[in-house]
Amino acid sequence: MAAHASHDSHASHGSHSTGAHDYAGPGASHGHGEHHENVIFRIARQDHPGGERYYQSFSVPHVPGMNVISALQYIAGHPTPIGETDSVTPVAWDCNCLEEVCGACTMVINGRVRQACSALVDQLDRNDAGEIELEPMSKYPVVRDLFVDRRRIFEGLKRVRAWIPVDGYYDAGPGPTQGPGEQEINYPLSQCMSCGCCMEACPQYTKVELSRASGESDAEFARRETHELQNGFLGAAVISQAVLFNNHPTGRMNKAERLEALMGPGGITDCGNAQNCVKVCPKLIPLTYSIAKAGRDTSIHAIKRWFMK
Ligand code: SF4
Ligand code: SF4
Ligand code: FES
Repeated sequence: MAAHASHDSHASHGSHSTGAHDYAGPGASHGHGEHHENVIFRIARQDHPGGERYYQSFSVPHVPGMNVISALQYIAGHPTPIGETDSVTPVAWDCNCLEEVCGACTMVINGRVRQACSALVDQLDRNDAGEIELEPMSKYPVVRDLFVDRRRIFEGLKRVRAWIPVDGYYDAGPGPTQGPGEQEINYPLSQCMSCGCCMEACPQYTKVELSRASGESDAEFARRETHELQNGFLGAAVISQAVLFNNHPTGRMNKAERLEALMGPGGITDCGNAQNCVKVCPKLIPLTYSIAKAGRDTSIHAIKRWFMK
């Protein structure tokens, strides 16, 4: 999962020891759509969780069609920042599918949250210094450099039971048929890859990052952390997945539990309806539909619950 490049990888690159061998200087790249000898990446570095952020720039030979991940792979093998003589610890990042399906490589590229694997270097703008800037998402704790801890999303999916329970692994036969109308609504929602872009853009979704209190045991810290993760705002993606499973003919059996979770702490009422989320979703998931549907369904559920008292 985590693409931590090995320190060994730069042992064979002593010839690059100046780090400036291929640096064409600030402004060497002039922006969108042009091809260049080298591309400069300014990368946010952080050595450990809770550590100080600093920046280093690296020069990468231009290859037509290259994406940001391929540039990071080059840097992993040649980790000498511009202006330094020695190599440094290679930049850490996360990736998996390399085809915008897993969401693991999500980072902030030139100020915009997106997947590094589908970010083609020739289509990216440069900053004023002619560089492409890479930073980790700001809403998740940094593990190292560009690699963040997205556990909160998966804790959220557990909170709303974003799955269909089964009672075994035997072949239960085909599931209930869904008509074209249902498919049209549900298929787009099913494309969510838990990337975190919608949460990164959401003003209501604030970072949860705890540090260990003095004398606190591993178990105590884990309990406190789980409590925080389970009470923060769920975010648009998780709300949308609850709606998806509530729309499903079999998933509907657990609808009430999902609605209860959406009505709990950090649930649907924390959404301020700013609709930033829908604008940044790389899968164009209709999050405004999901949020509105979750709002309606929880209101109906609350009224029913009141009458059943
Ligand atoms: S609509 Fe809700 S989830 Fe989306 S960005 Fe706004 S507050 Fe966040
Ligand atoms: S809803 Fe879109 S932006 Fe949000 S996690 Fe899913 S794919 Fe990513
Ligand atoms: S590596 Fe899977 S989305 Fe980029």
